[in-house]
Amino acid sequence: MNNQQTMDALKTHEIPGRVTVFSGKGNLPAVRVETEAGEAEVYLHGAHVTGFRKKGEEPLLFMSGSSDFLPDKPIRGGVPVIFPWFGPREGQPGHGTARITDWDLTESLLLPDGAVRLSFHLPCEEAAGVEFIVTVGSSLVMEFVVTNTGTADFTFENCLHTYFQISGIHGIEVAGLKGARCLDSLTGTERVEEAETIRFTAETDRIYQDTAATAEIRDPGLGRSIFVRKSGSMSTVVWNPWIEKARRMPDFGDDEWPHMVCVESCNVGEHAITLAPGGRSVLRVEIDSAPLA
Ligand code: BG6
Repeated sequence: MNNQQTMDALKTHEIPGRVTVFSGKGNLPAVRVETEAGEAEVYLHGAHVTGFRKKGEEPLLFMSGSSDFLPDKPIRGGVPVIFPWFGPREGQPGHGTARITDWDLTESLLLPDGAVRLSFHLPCEEAAGVEFIVTVGSSLVMEFVVTNTGTADFTFENCLHTYFQISGIHGIEVAGLKGARCLDSLTGTERVEEAETIRFTAETDRIYQDTAATAEIRDPGLGRSIFVRKSGSMSTVVWNPWIEKARRMPDFGDDEWPHMVCVESCNVGEHAITLAPGGRSVLRVEIDSAPLA
């Protein structure tokens, strides 16, 4: 399909006043959702949510002003969908292929409560049927669903790699991870998290294992807490690149690192998922906010 045919096919999913298809940055097709309570944008490239805000509130998601919008590159910011592996892999794209694949939009639906649900399908995954369902209302709900359609066991990692917009990395704290086993990706060491809340004073890249807990990003500068509620996820990754790594990243502004934090809902490492033939897994993440208590 050429660009025009793709746009014409997508337009069949428009809902007047609620769901609009548009040609986004880099001419990549994208969908805008507007509801009474919240609005969002999703690119078909990666089924990538690039924005979500509740009505009358600052955006919850961070997007880099230096992001690529190219068919063979991931988008930097928002919610990259990481699958079927997390992190680097020799000779293969980092963080898997899902975030650099063009997904199909299969359905858009106005729900009775006024929220809008978009369903995306990942083409060409041989051993699996992969869906990503995004519901936009007063919160953002994302469900990543994998079904093993093959005849052998299928093992994969997954992650909804959410980038959050914050007032400043020095002033925020992340609660909810006390007691979780923490693998520090920078030092290769392992410990149990003893702090009530995580604060940021340097590059931070950690995998918290065996945790299904809700994470709370407390941001006094914006007077709000962001809540990351999840199910079907036993790993949480916390990441900020800080100064030097930000400089090394070509698709990330040198001065952007203080304005973002990633709190990612995943199943990685020893929590990789193995599905028997016919088996199904659902990773569900809800992003919401409230005035800081
Ligand atoms: C995080 C990893 O999940 O993603 C970091 O823990 C990594 O190590 C970051 O730097 C960004 O990865 P990428 O491939 O999008 O640059």
